[in-house]
This record gives sequence, C-alpha cells and structure tokens, in this order.
Amino acid sequence: MALVGALGLLTLWPLCQAASTPSASYPKPRLTAQPAAVVTPGINVTLRCHAPRPAWRFAFFRLGESVYVSSDLDEFFLEEVTLAQGGAYTCRYGLPDRGPSVWSQPSDVLELLVAEQLPRPSLVALPGPVVAPGATVSLRCAARVPGMSFALYRAGEADPVQYRDSAEPWADFPLAGAHAPGTYSCYYHTPHRPYVLSLRSEPLEVRAHADLHPPDYTFGNLVRLGLAGLVLAALCTLVTLHCRNARRALGQRPPGSWV
Ligand SMILES: *[C@@H]1O[C@H](CO)[C@@H](O)[C@H](O)[C@H]1NC(C)=O
Repeated sequence: MALVGALGLLTLWPLCQAASTPSASYPKPRLTAQPAAVVTPGINVTLRCHAPRPAWRFAFFRLGESVYVSSDLDEFFLEEVTLAQGGAYTCRYGLPDRGPSVWSQPSDVLELLVAEQLPRPSLVALPGPVVAPGATVSLRCAARVPGMSFALYRAGEADPVQYRDSAEPWADFPLAGAHAPGTYSCYYHTPHRPYVLSLRSEPLEVRAHADLHPPDYTFGNLVRLGLAGLVLAALCTLVTLHCRNARRALGQRPPGSWV
C-alpha cells in the first residue's frame, strides 16, 4: 500500500512543475460526471476526463485539496457518493515528453453537488407583481445550479401551470395579465434520473392593476368629492345671487307692468 502511494507520488511529481509552467501546447481536457453532476448521496458517480488527444495518464483534483487521484484511466469512480465528496473537481492529462512527462492545462471546474434536497429557489415577478389586464408579467424562478427543470404552481391547483427545462440557472414563466392574479410558487429538479428535488420557493402574490395603491384611490376620491363640493357651492352662490337680483328687479317694477 505504501509502495503504491510512493509510486503514485512519483508519477505526480511532474504535476507540481506543470502547475508553475502550464503547457500551452496541451489544451485543457473536459471533465464530465455520469449520471449527473447533481445527485443524492448513495449514487455511483463516474468522473471522466476527456483529453483532446491520446493521453498517457490522468490526474483528478478536488479544489482546496492536493492531488486526489492519478491513474492511467480517464475515469474516477466515486462509489455511492457521500455528502462530503461533493465539491469542485478538475482534471489534467499527462503525456510522456522527451524529458519528464508533461501535464496539460487543468480542465474547467466541475461542481459535483451531492445533496438530499436542493436549496429553495427564489420567485420574482418581472417587471413587478402588479399587472394590468392587457400586459404580460414574467415570473422568474431562480436556482443556483444551471440545467434544471422548473415547475410553476398556482395556489389551489395540484398540477403545475407551466413547466420547462432551462440551460440557465433560472426559468421565466410568462403570464397574460388578465389571468395572472393569484399566488404562485415554484421548484426545480434535475432533468433526468436519479432525480434530486428542491424545496418550494416562498409564495409570490400577483395582483391586478386595479388593486394598485389603494391609498391613492382614496385620495383621488377625496379630490373628486372636494371638487364636486366646490362646484355645488358655486352653483348655490349663483342661484342665490340670481334669486336676489330677480327679487330686487321685481320690487322695482310696478305690479303688472311685466306682463
Ligand atoms: C455502485 O457500484 C457498486 C460497485 O460497482 C455496486 O455494487 C452497487 O450496486 C452500485 N450501487 C448503485 C446504487 O448503483
């Protein structure tokens, strides 16, 4: 066992050099996870390092740690993965050179997310939660992981009102303003088996435009009442003046002269 470890360290020695002088002529490999990069604990996960050319050795790393494993296989098998094995992984491939072996640039980071349940998404209305009947409102369900399937629910309905896959870490659900008012929530899950589900978002209430700023409405009514009052007062004044003038005119005329 110790011998294997020592041999492993020997083969890895050039990696230290590679880290300080990455070789531009050996383009970075691509690191993938099967069956998925987001899994529940207990799933068998295989990390595969895809080299752009035939390679001699492969090394897998986990960020924040030194070398994880090095072998002549392009696969790294995580049997029945645990929560603790989640994290950011990279890989390199090695080629024998004239002198010591040369290691490629590291791959892009692969985030392996091992979780019983995925974090709660956020649900927001764009441009806002108050919608006019003729307008459209878009409900955005946002997660922290890309490539998920998203479902939008409306309170009181068992089935999702809309459902979609997204390459982005969010999904937009457009709703016609006339039918939009209601209370919504959303969640997301991995698009394929083995499924990992998220918690439900907090509820979001979408209101019709008429409900907008009830205090403004009261204020508007007060202004209208006030104006009506002013008009009424003005009319009364006019009528009073007219009656007084008429009476005065009547008093100045001799009886019967106006027939
Ligand atoms: C994981 O792999 C091991 C060894 O290949 C196998 O015995 C086991 O049944 C697998 N477990 C699952 C959940 O697929």
